Amino acid sequence: IIPTLTALITGYLLGSIPFGLLLAKATGQGDIRNIGSGNIGATNVLRTGRKDIAALTLILDAAKAGGAGLVILHFFGQPFGYMAAAAALVGHCYPIWLGFKGGKGVATFFGGLFALAWPIGIFAAIVWLSTAFITRLSSLGALLACVASSVLAWFISPFSGAVMVAFMAFIILIRHRENIARLMKGEESKIGQKGK
Ligand code: G3P
Repeated sequence: IIPTLTALITGYLLGSIPFGLLLAKATGQGDIRNIGSGNIGATNVLRTGRKDIAALTLILDAAKAGGAGLVILHFFGQPFGYMAAAAALVGHCYPIWLGFKGGKGVATFFGGLFALAWPIGIFAAIVWLSTAFITRLSSLGALLACVASSVLAWFISPFSGAVMVAFMAFIILIRHRENIARLMKGEESKIGQKGK
């Protein structure tokens, strides 16, 4: 029970730090929740026009999940590392500090993958980046990367890893409901565009 609780609490608390919100506020961009899609993630921080804080948001949001996963892995072993990374994603998407209204989990997903299952991380990054590059739709790239990496993890990861990847992907899909609706209507805004 101690490893489980430590993994869940450490992961959740680290994951719930809203770096996008904090960085946007600290650099005078105001409340990121009133800009673009209203999301606290890197894609929306980019809508402020500040590439530097968008990149930093991506790195720090990824690092909090990867960091939680690696620290817990070191002390308690791999399944608990996976658990901590998944808890970080939950913390990012449902942070207690923001009334449980957080981000969409894409950067934290990548952070967890690169730290704990890097071949899947590389595969997911290729799917995400190539889709985003071709279509200029960050959300579509993220959604395809989630589905594709869940399938790959099923074949190449240990059971606990496959469950973690599928669980994280499932939450990301739920958090992208509005993006999915916009994608289906052809109304999703492209990378760097100011709209939703
Ligand atoms: O990383 C989140 C991305 O998939 C969508 O972000 O701000 O366009 O809703 P956003």
